[in-house]
Amino acid sequence: MTDINEKELLALEAEYCSYGDTVHYIEPAKIFESCEGTWLYDTAGRPYLDMQMWYSAVNFGYRNQEIEEPHNRQLKRLPQLACQYLHKEKILLAAKIARETEKRFGMKGRVHFNVGGAQAIEDSMKLIRNFRGGKSLMFAFMGGYHGRTLGCSEITSSYRYRRRYGHFGSRASFIPYPYCYRCFYGLKRESCGYECVNQFEKLFETEYYGVLDPKAGEAEFAAFYVEPLQATGGYIAPPPEYFAKLDKILKRYNILLVDDEIQMGFYRTGKLWALEHFGVKPDIVTFAKSLTNGLNPLSGVWAKEEMIKPEVFPPGSTHSTFSSNPLGTAAGLATMEYIDRHDLETSVKETTDWGWHCG
Ligand SMILES: Cc1ncc(COP(=O)(O)O)c(C=O)c1O
Repeated sequence: MTDINEKELLALEAEYCSYGDTVHYIEPAKIFESCEGTWLYDTAGRPYLDMQMWYSAVNFGYRNQEIEEPHNRQLKRLPQLACQYLHKEKILLAAKIARETEKRFGMKGRVHFNVGGAQAIEDSMKLIRNFRGGKSLMFAFMGGYHGRTLGCSEITSSYRYRRRYGHFGSRASFIPYPYCYRCFYGLKRESCGYECVNQFEKLFETEYYGVLDPKAGEAEFAAFYVEPLQATGGYIAPPPEYFAKLDKILKRYNILLVDDEIQMGFYRTGKLWALEHFGVKPDIVTFAKSLTNGLNPLSGVWAKEEMIKPEVFPPGSTHSTFSSNPLGTAAGLATMEYIDRHDLETSVKETTDWGWHCG
């Protein structure tokens, strides 16, 4: 920062920047100048350890050269291209994610790109509504976070994200997350008998609980949005059998399982997809953030073939100018290649304790 000092910058911010897209957790807000590894540096060169790694957008470290260099080569060769045309990085990245997902969940599927996590969630809602004949009601977890567009705010539990804006579509039905340390039902994990699952199952017991038409055998709800480990809600791991039990109920009533991996994906928990820990198969996976190690806001949705094949979800179903942009897909491909070169499953296991058996 050569020709303007920090005080002048903060004065400009106070006058010209919306405060709606930021939160100043300290005053005056910190201005950063550079980054490297797990460190951020302020304008005086003072290092700060980033305990959050940009909300998990930089799982593989700031300025990771194995990802940055392929991105920079793309910048020099083909940095811009309208999405109606093809470039090899888009195709290779989609194929790589689809094949890796098939390896893990045993299902064929396809990948649809967009920019930003919330937009991937929006696209997933369109895939669901399209596949389920316009059904728009969703289940989601208390404490869950799926983004801040109007649509995403409907399936994110906190009312404070909706309070100023009213409703846009259908507010989700929020179900207690299995946070055993602060159990919603006040029970202890050792003796609870999975009361949270029992209570969810009870909703389907009679038509008067407002979820199921037993005569038609059809639930009013199209899908359940889950974060396998709750991220923004507090980095909470569920008990190991929870998702298998939940999934049984969802399968029985033909409710789709949407696995939001936007924050917990890409080896945050030692697996490509955090849901792999629990032995259940999702119908949809959403991802963003560390897909490009934070170099580009590329995001995406993987959906099983029957939901996303072109006969069901035709060309141009939903689209954005920057959706499969060449810089993002080049960084995404470099991230997937980085993952292939490093045994992250072992290193994360050695350095992380998720407390699988609860507090
Ligand atoms: C689980 C989850 N889903 C969706 C989002 C929204 O992503 P974005 O902030 O890129 O819109 C986030 C962001 O923190 C997230 O953690």
